[in-house]
Amino acid sequence: MNYKNEIAKKISAITNVNVNDLEGYIETPPNPEMGDFAFPCFKLAKELKKAPPAIAAELKEQLTTDEVIERIDVAGGYLNFFISKEGLVKNVIDEVLAKGDRYGSSDLGAGKNIVIDYSSPNIAKPFHIGHLRTTVIGGALYKMYKFLGYNVIGINHLGDWGMGISKTIAGYEMWKDEYSFDENAILSILAIYVRFNKLEKEDPTMTDKARDVLIRLENKDEETTKLWKWIIDVSLENYNKVYDLLGSEFDSFNGEAFYNDKMDRVVDELNAKGLLKDSEGAKVVEMPDDMPPCIIITSAGTTIYATRDLAALLYRIDNYNFEKALYVVGSEQSLHFKQVFKTLELMGYEKYAAACEHIPFGLVLDENGEKIGSRKGGALLTLEEILNESIEKSLKIIEEKNPDLENKEEVAKMVGVGAIIFNDLSNNRIKDEIFDWNQLLNFAGETGPYLQYTYVRTNSILRNANVDIDNVDASKLLDKEAIEVIKKLAEYPDVIISAVNKNEPSLISRHIIDVAQSFSRFYNEHQIICDDEETKKARVALAKAVGHVIKSGLGILGIRTPEKM
Ligand code: ARG
Repeated sequence: MNYKNEIAKKISAITNVNVNDLEGYIETPPNPEMGDFAFPCFKLAKELKKAPPAIAAELKEQLTTDEVIERIDVAGGYLNFFISKEGLVKNVIDEVLAKGDRYGSSDLGAGKNIVIDYSSPNIAKPFHIGHLRTTVIGGALYKMYKFLGYNVIGINHLGDWGMGISKTIAGYEMWKDEYSFDENAILSILAIYVRFNKLEKEDPTMTDKARDVLIRLENKDEETTKLWKWIIDVSLENYNKVYDLLGSEFDSFNGEAFYNDKMDRVVDELNAKGLLKDSEGAKVVEMPDDMPPCIIITSAGTTIYATRDLAALLYRIDNYNFEKALYVVGSEQSLHFKQVFKTLELMGYEKYAAACEHIPFGLVLDENGEKIGSRKGGALLTLEEILNESIEKSLKIIEEKNPDLENKEEVAKMVGVGAIIFNDLSNNRIKDEIFDWNQLLNFAGETGPYLQYTYVRTNSILRNANVDIDNVDASKLLDKEAIEVIKKLAEYPDVIISAVNKNEPSLISRHIIDVAQSFSRFYNEHQIICDDEETKKARVALAKAVGHVIKSGLGILGIRTPEKM
């Protein structure tokens, strides 16, 4: 039941004002005592040429109440609407139980392609905590759009070309005999990369060695290309372990190298439009305002990051004809994306340029507000190590709280990984994330484990009650606490839509916390397993509906839910 729409239709029938406009004006009063919905009549003052209180009084005269809208009050320039609580309860419970975990899903996005570029690490560098946010936020967006029926293309735009990987290859060529590559080859590769970078600081001739590798790669030298492929394979093998743990999904791993043979088109189209300008030996596209130019060809004659992103955009336009192209990348690349999108627009792809959006996010800080990630030796902790640590810590907690639980390891995985994901998504993405073990694994805090635990509790209520939930008597759920839960459940589908519109997964995480907390208040006030059969049935149905919405919300964020814990 879309109450705002019902109210808007009633007002439109009297005023002839467009229903959609009216619906947009309707508000939720700060205090439910004042009504469930409020219509601010000043929005019509101009059109109807009357003062808001007069409009309110006149509308009230002509509006009729029914089984949906029970009462209408005038409060100054506002009309306050009270919905029938019983109708609301019935609608929500019926709908959630009928749709289960799919409650809130729709086909709003049917036929529309959304490209999400996320994770996209630079090959041969450790996959560290800095990659967590793009991977987790991008993964949530991927599932959010899918839930609304969009056709989503998740792209891992691997940084598999350029000086970074060339340094690793150069280091390997010099030092391969000093390392073992039988087991955990990635660690040796990382060690070589770190060693090369350190040495390069004292010895600039190292840079020449890496440049030589890059030239060989560009000339398709067989041996070098083989090494390059091997390093990508070893890296991906390692990244995939993290992706498996996080449940990340990608439809394409086309990285920067994929566009090697697609760069000429970018240069040709820019030339044809007369957009390429010489600047200190480089070729650039000039940007409006104070924006620095977008470099397309460096003074060394090579293409760069931006050229590759433009080639990727042309490819994505041709192959995906996207409705939106999202780039989930840290805010430090904000200028880069502005330049790339502007260049695309200047090239004549205005519609697609307008559909591109950079989705930035804040840093990961420790509990003291310091940048996180260093081990004592200075090397970065890998994300795999952090996830495994979280799983271990969760296992310890489970062993203390519920030593007899079956498949403890599997549950610990869901809890440990879920805690990290939820912590990342629990605040507005642009804010810095605080990574504090005590907080993110706190079962009583606003955390992933708390939500999983709430779900498990609704589950055990269902098991213990052992009732058939059919024909729920809505009149048994009219107490203040139950209505609060019902309202939160009713808002869920709209929350998903807002979250998608703002590309903001935290709207969903905040909302399911609200659902869980309102259910806890209900649970503390009311006995679910009680003597009156009808009341018991209705309360168990409420618990079941809460469980569905929590599980659904967690699932969309990329978090699995155990049945017991
Ligand atoms: N590899 C880049 C980095 O780690 C991120 C790539 C983001 N995607 C893109 N299409 N530019 O900084």
